[in-house]
Amino acid sequence: MVVYLVGAGPGDPDLITLKAVKALKKANVVIYDRLANNEILKYAENADLIYVGKKAGEHYKKQDEINQILIDQGKKHQNVVRLKGGDPFVFGRGGEEMLALLEEGICVEFIPGVTSAIGVPTSSGLPVTHRGIATSLTIVTGHEDPTKPNKQVKWDFKADTIIILMGIGLLEENTKEIMKYKDPKTPVCVIENGTSPDQRIITGTLEDITQNHINTPALVIVGKVVDVFKESLLKKAKLEKVEGK
Ligand SMILES: C[S@@+](CC[C@H](N)C(=O)[O-])C[C@H]1O[C@@H](n2cnc3c(N)ncnc32)[C@H](O)[C@@H]1O
Repeated sequence: MVVYLVGAGPGDPDLITLKAVKALKKANVVIYDRLANNEILKYAENADLIYVGKKAGEHYKKQDEINQILIDQGKKHQNVVRLKGGDPFVFGRGGEEMLALLEEGICVEFIPGVTSAIGVPTSSGLPVTHRGIATSLTIVTGHEDPTKPNKQVKWDFKADTIIILMGIGLLEENTKEIMKYKDPKTPVCVIENGTSPDQRIITGTLEDITQNHINTPALVIVGKVVDVFKESLLKKAKLEKVEGK
């Protein structure tokens, strides 16, 4: 009787860890979200599959209901996998699920995943830190729970790089807030459907990035590291020209 909280990575099925594959192979049941690439489920050869994913603005199952499903399955089966997109503890509500399971006396084990916050920029060749340019980074939600009595996100971050998850719906409001503390010309990069064949990259600045139509899932990177990325694209294009690609 153990529930594994497992990260599925940001989308590309090859970005799952070996440890996650091993857990899926021995699972009796897998409870999974929308963001986890469905191809990953092929490893769960002997498991029943339970979908509990949520879509933006459309809550298929409430968190309490998901916790209850985990508890029920955890009590019934030897090996349960709770599979989540990216890393289970980065805006994945993995902490709440962990506490709910422990409260019921169910053992929990943790298998980290490649978080989209870092894995998506890295897969695109965008370094989130860079010597002499960015020595710190902040990962923040762009959509704080509207039912919270007090907002925790103030947007006055000191970090050189800001990475915003769930930040597309309120991009205009959030960039306006950031511009109270950072130069409006600060470079911004949006990566849509990162690590998937549909990946799209849009660059701009804090003051003009909202002029683009952006599809979700997408994340937003704010800071001078975006210029490093652009420089690398130029170098890559030059190289490809020389190689005649
Ligand atoms: C609820 S959070 C979950 C994050 C996840 N636990 C992780 O570590 O990546 C979902 C947000 O992650 C970001 N995201 C997840 N997968 C992505 C992808 N493949 N490309 C771009 N952004 C992604 C988006 O900002 C999306 O709104």
